[in-house]
Amino acid sequence: MSKVKKAIIPAAGLGTRFLPATKTVPKEMLTIVDAPIIFYVVEEAVKAGIEDIVLIAGRGKHAIEDFFDTSYELEDRLAKDGKEKLLERVTKIREMANVISIRQKHALGLGHAVLSGLPIIGKEPFAVLLGDEITMGFHNEPNVTAQLVRSFEETNTSTISVMKVEEKDVSKYGIAEVEEKTTGFFKVNSLIEKPKPSETQSRWALPGRYVFDNRIMDILKEAKPTLNGEIQLTDSMKVLCQRHGLNAMTFTAQRYDAGDKLGYLQANIELGLQNPELGAELKKYILQLAQSLK
Ligand code: G1P
Repeated sequence: MSKVKKAIIPAAGLGTRFLPATKTVPKEMLTIVDAPIIFYVVEEAVKAGIEDIVLIAGRGKHAIEDFFDTSYELEDRLAKDGKEKLLERVTKIREMANVISIRQKHALGLGHAVLSGLPIIGKEPFAVLLGDEITMGFHNEPNVTAQLVRSFEETNTSTISVMKVEEKDVSKYGIAEVEEKTTGFFKVNSLIEKPKPSETQSRWALPGRYVFDNRIMDILKEAKPTLNGEIQLTDSMKVLCQRHGLNAMTFTAQRYDAGDKLGYLQANIELGLQNPELGAELKKYILQLAQSLK
């Protein structure tokens, strides 16, 4: 049984839905409550037992790499000012995981981004966490990646997360055609990237959390560009499911598409409500606001 100790976080997409993301601030660095989106994604991986994180960053994404670096001036200042709590958080970010950055020179799609992680992944199994999506298990339940890792280690089969979407949203996602084995646990029969609702019966979408056995890399090496001229991870997953099997599972954690305006706002509100310093005040404010909106 192989253990999952490595993860790839693709953070190469431009993110044209936010103005700053098209200039100097990558969307993964936009703040949710008090930390950038990428912080939550790395934290999820670390909590799932991942030790090495391969960040696939495209052009204009230096800020993400810098975020995981030592910042001597800041740490020195915080130490001198006796701001121990903040200092602890800043050092924790750096010590959370071994973050290795690989530059994706050409934006050739998610499949290509994942393949770019091969020099670090080598022959091992690995998780993939899309860099602009946050999943948050409340009340100490295992996070989505942790659930996938556990399933992989039990079954020795690649496992991906799925969520039910409405018909109008089918064309925004990779869609899995599945067969339920036990409640919330499926065998994947086929996959299709961003289909029209008429092209598939399935409403099971891929929310951007995967654990793969290493054979996906061999399949990606052979992959050809398809939709939008990009190498789609979903196409290679389809080959994986036909050749070696692929499982899927649902999850109870909350998921926020923080790369989307509404998802970004929802993440700020809901994680703000969970924040020990802010929660009570924010709740009061939301309740008042809700009254005035009636
Ligand atoms: C990517 C994947 C898609 C997945 C989605 C999740 O698409 O290609 O299969 O369902 O992320 O957000 P993107 O949103 O990058 O276009």
